[in-house]
Amino acid sequence: MKLHHVVEAQQFDRPILLELFEASRHMEDVVRKGGVTDYHRRIMATLFYEPSTRTRFSFEAAMHRLGGRVITTENAAEFSSVSKGETLEDTIRILNGYADIIVIRHYEVGAAQRAAAVSRVPIVNAGDGVGQHPTQALLDLYTIQKEIGAIDGLRIAMVGDLAQGRTVRSLAYLLGKFHDIKIYFVAPALLQMKDDILEYLRERKVAYEEESDLEKVLPQVHVVYQTRVQKERFGDRISDYEKCRGLYVINRESLKLMRQDAIIMHPLPRVDEIAMEVDQDPRAAYFRQAQNGLYVRMALLKMVLGSA
Ligand code: CP
Repeated sequence: MKLHHVVEAQQFDRPILLELFEASRHMEDVVRKGGVTDYHRRIMATLFYEPSTRTRFSFEAAMHRLGGRVITTENAAEFSSVSKGETLEDTIRILNGYADIIVIRHYEVGAAQRAAAVSRVPIVNAGDGVGQHPTQALLDLYTIQKEIGAIDGLRIAMVGDLAQGRTVRSLAYLLGKFHDIKIYFVAPALLQMKDDILEYLRERKVAYEEESDLEKVLPQVHVVYQTRVQKERFGDRISDYEKCRGLYVINRESLKLMRQDAIIMHPLPRVDEIAMEVDQDPRAAYFRQAQNGLYVRMALLKMVLGSA
């Protein structure tokens, strides 16, 4: 199956997801053997207006492992001609002449959609402000499938900064495609999940509860999806940030409350919302989750680029 632009999680239906997961499993073997050279004629541009470790490096590593080439700027806001006043649309039009696919991260909601509207080559949304992060949700779902063995019937707690968290928004959209899901949204009132997602879940008949007591939820779930309270999203609302930080921390005591077959996920980076002492527990899946990003992004690039 071929995809073109990848802008939001809602574009993925169950058959595409299952095909992507099968291809991702195959990519694990490809990486073990060192990669392939199939895409040596293809160029990927990564255009990141916000900082990134995992998303940019895993996309670039994915393209290299497929044999393709990468052009990039470390900091598009500063080192591209946007700093001289060029529009996003003009930048994308120009990159269309240089690259076969553009992976973009931007601080504005809807930026990837704007890029897609003027782009002949595929645009992949690597995060648009507080909007969405669809490829993170794909690797999250792949991780759940791999670690838990199934997605239908899942009980998941999404914890932390849900109002400003693009990863949890995209993941909620994907979970809406599966059966018998229950989501516990655990967040301070200021950071609870936004109404557009809640409305979507009601339409899809996905059960959810808004909770403030994490300890009550921990024994009930297969997945604890922790997120960072994102200081950079608060702007000058410093007192709101101070009110919200540090309220929900996963630590040794949390592990005692969790099921033995549960896992802890986090899109990362973390600050202090998962104590380092948790890392040694086999249920700490967040580093395995980040590794899965490589396989899923390789599979996604292949789907989008089509035959080499
Ligand atoms: N999860 C994630 O998007 O991480 P980066 O910001 O490091 O890309």
